[in-house]
Formats: sequence, C-alpha cells, structure tokens
Amino acid sequence: MGIGNLARPIFVIADMHLGHRFLKLREGKFTKPEGDEWENKILRSIHKIPRNVIYVDLGDISVEKKWLDKYSEVLQRRPDLTRILVIGNHDEKSHAYYYGMGFDFVCETFSLERTFFSHRPTASKFWPEGCLYNVHGHLHDSEEDYGFFGNPPKEEGHVLVATEILGPKALHLSEVLSKSGKQIKGLPKYKVIGGWVLCNRKKEVKSEEFDTYDECSKYRKEWDLQSLVIINLRDLNV
Ligand SMILES: [Fe+2]
Repeated sequence: MGIGNLARPIFVIADMHLGHRFLKLREGKFTKPEGDEWENKILRSIHKIPRNVIYVDLGDISVEKKWLDKYSEVLQRRPDLTRILVIGNHDEKSHAYYYGMGFDFVCETFSLERTFFSHRPTASKFWPEGCLYNVHGHLHDSEEDYGFFGNPPKEEGHVLVATEILGPKALHLSEVLSKSGKQIKGLPKYKVIGGWVLCNRKKEVKSEEFDTYDECSKYRKEWDLQSLVIINLRDLNV
C-alpha cells in the first residue's frame, strides 16, 4: 500500500519499548507499572484508532521477539491503516523484517504536511524546505536531554512524542501539537455533522464543533455509533 491520500488524519506514537524493564523504573506523568499492563494498553489503543488514517510509529518498538510478534498481530488486524515505521536506535532488525510485521512503509525519516518525522530530534537546518515542525521521539519524558547525548538543542518547532507524557496510546497529530503548547494557525478542529441521539430515545441530528478528537469521542457514549459522523475540518480546508 502506498501513502495514498495525504490529507488523511495522522496518528502518532513513539518509544513503546515493549517489555523494556528499565523504562518501568522511570516515573513520568504516566508511570509504567510492573507486569504487562502498560504494553497491553498500548497495543489495545491501536485497535481504537479510527479507520483509514495514517499511523506513524516513531520507533524503538522492542528488542524482545515476544513483543514484536504481539505488535505484529495487532498491526496485521488493521490493514485499513497506512502503517509507517520510523526506525529508532533500538530497532535493530532489517527493514524487511518490519515490513513482514505489517508496516506498509519503513524509513529513517519522512515529511508530510509540513512536518518532519524522525526518531531522534533533528536540527531545523536538516528539515526539508517548508517543514514547520519536527515530530520526534527518543527523549521519553526527558526534555532536558535536548542539547546533550548527541541531541540538538531544543528549537521552537520540536515536538516530543512520549507515552510517559501523553499516555499509552497513539494520538492524533493535532492533539500532540496542542498538548506540546504549539500555537498553530488553523489548528485542526473537528465537527460532528450527524448522528442520532440515543438518550431519551429521541432521534435527532446534531451538528457541533470540538477542538479535539477526544471531545468528539465522548459523544460516542450517548450517540448511536453507527450514525455518528466526525469530520476533521482541517482535512476539508474549511
Ligand atoms: Fe531511542
């Protein structure tokens, strides 16, 4: 499968480090517990990603075959996604191996929608022309590592993706940007344009706008899932 329609929403996650015990000893906003609970939450989150979006894994999946196999099972159940892997420093298998896991595109870096995606933070002088942001992983919850250990100094356009900060799930790129405090002109907004309200057994079409996809999702509880239509206004250029 190719990259396809570039206007599709992008969901992103980084540094799963599935089964990596050292990371379970770190304490970010979200503490990784002992056992497999953290890993299972991450993998379950992939089932919940909306259909047909672009899914970007920014690397450092796992060095354990057990977890690579479990992740592969999950990926192969989502052929509707365009599944992109940006290789991290702990992803030591061949590109062919990751394609075999179920990824549609495996790369060191790529750019899309004025955003440069990489595992490690990258200095802006290396971003392709026109890119405003570098969405990257690698630093986990340690923003103080910008400028050290071979990482470039932090710049305005750097956006860190980390499960320790954002939680154990893939997030829509617009939410990652807004949660990292970026003031973006035309920040994507979402609009629910249809749906039957199930509360009080009334059937009613609603039309309402929300700033984040999660806010729309709250309505899934009270609305009939089959009839709920959520659009990304940015994708429609409105
Ligand atoms: Fe890394």
